[in-house]
Amino acid sequence: MKHNFDEVVKRLGTGCKKWDTYDKDVIPMWIADTDFTCPKPIVDAIRKRAEHEVYGYPIIESSYERAVAGWQRRRFGWNIKTDWVEYTPAVIPAIVYAMRAFTHPGDRVVVQMPCYHPFPEVIPHNGRFVAPNPLIPQKDGSWAIDWKGFEELLKDPRTTMFLLCNPHNPTGKVFTKAELTRMANLCAKYGVFVVSDEIHSDIVYKGSKHYPFGSVSDVAAKNCVVCVNPSKTFNIAGFRTGAAIIPDKHNHELFRNEVENLKAFGRNIFGTLAVEVAYTKCDYYADQEIEYLQGNLDYLRKFLEEKVPEMKVGKVQATYLIWIDCKALKMDNKTMMDFFLHKAKVAMNDGATFGLGGEGYMRMNIACPRSQLEEALKRIEKAVKTLRK
Ligand SMILES: Cc1ncc(COP(=O)(O)O)c(C=O)c1O
Repeated sequence: MKHNFDEVVKRLGTGCKKWDTYDKDVIPMWIADTDFTCPKPIVDAIRKRAEHEVYGYPIIESSYERAVAGWQRRRFGWNIKTDWVEYTPAVIPAIVYAMRAFTHPGDRVVVQMPCYHPFPEVIPHNGRFVAPNPLIPQKDGSWAIDWKGFEELLKDPRTTMFLLCNPHNPTGKVFTKAELTRMANLCAKYGVFVVSDEIHSDIVYKGSKHYPFGSVSDVAAKNCVVCVNPSKTFNIAGFRTGAAIIPDKHNHELFRNEVENLKAFGRNIFGTLAVEVAYTKCDYYADQEIEYLQGNLDYLRKFLEEKVPEMKVGKVQATYLIWIDCKALKMDNKTMMDFFLHKAKVAMNDGATFGLGGEGYMRMNIACPRSQLEEALKRIEKAVKTLRK
């Protein structure tokens, strides 16, 4: 089956956060969903289920867990058991359950900065503290781990969790097996539990490979929760579904207790169906999407290099959220956000909202038809030209 990623779908006026937040004449290239229709097998399954016209409590079967396990096995070679899988309403709630299950109020949670902005929100909202570990930008556009700083933070007895984003949003870094193994060993050494958010693991570009954290060693498997959600890949975030993968039985019990205490085990019939179909029938879509996004990324890079050299794309290994260094525009982030929104009429994410290390950056979502990307870049070029002498 071939999916048409060039198709332009009207989302304006559909109660859609991406399109209905800003003025109608703004091209939205910000929040992390795609402008692609979701795979036909999902649409067909949802239609068929909706036609039944009765939407009562579902019986819990293991088809959901089998679908999650099958995807991990086929796509990443991680042989997980279905009873390691726990349904969650999304990834962020899963992170919160894990934090409540494996840490205490007042504890510290290590986060690599800059980071996906809800991380430093949910940590203090649950009475824990953020322990920031900055990623270090390298000359070749890649990002290095500050291992010394990382170990210092882990050594602190108040540190009980490391919240990893693998692959990393917003830098687009894919962690190597060696890096993940080293993280796992250090965390085990200091008794720090690892939560690995792997929501972006499906979109990995040529030359890089995603390793699920729990797959890198037994040490890692015994000390982690891996959180996944097909929402980013298949554009089904509105269904609010996800899964946690917990290889260790005791850890799984602790996590499940938290889910039960919060009465968060109810499943959404449409969401579970969408996940099951995505993970069993839509490999073709993910493969074609990666290829399409690679084309968008190459286009973006070439365009900026040739026409807007003030904006630089580093080494992007994963995700459709592109971290762009705009320091050469010499604006503070508030002015820059205003400039792109009002002068170029393109909405991106303000890098400063990603915390430490985000100043001078903007994040652009390129998961849209090529024609939309072209138009957004033309607008940006025109606006930046006005700044030049
Ligand atoms: C790294 C990361 N984690 C989690 C989420 C949100 O996931 P969910 O909607 O499943 O809570 C996003 C969305 O952009 C994300 O980028």
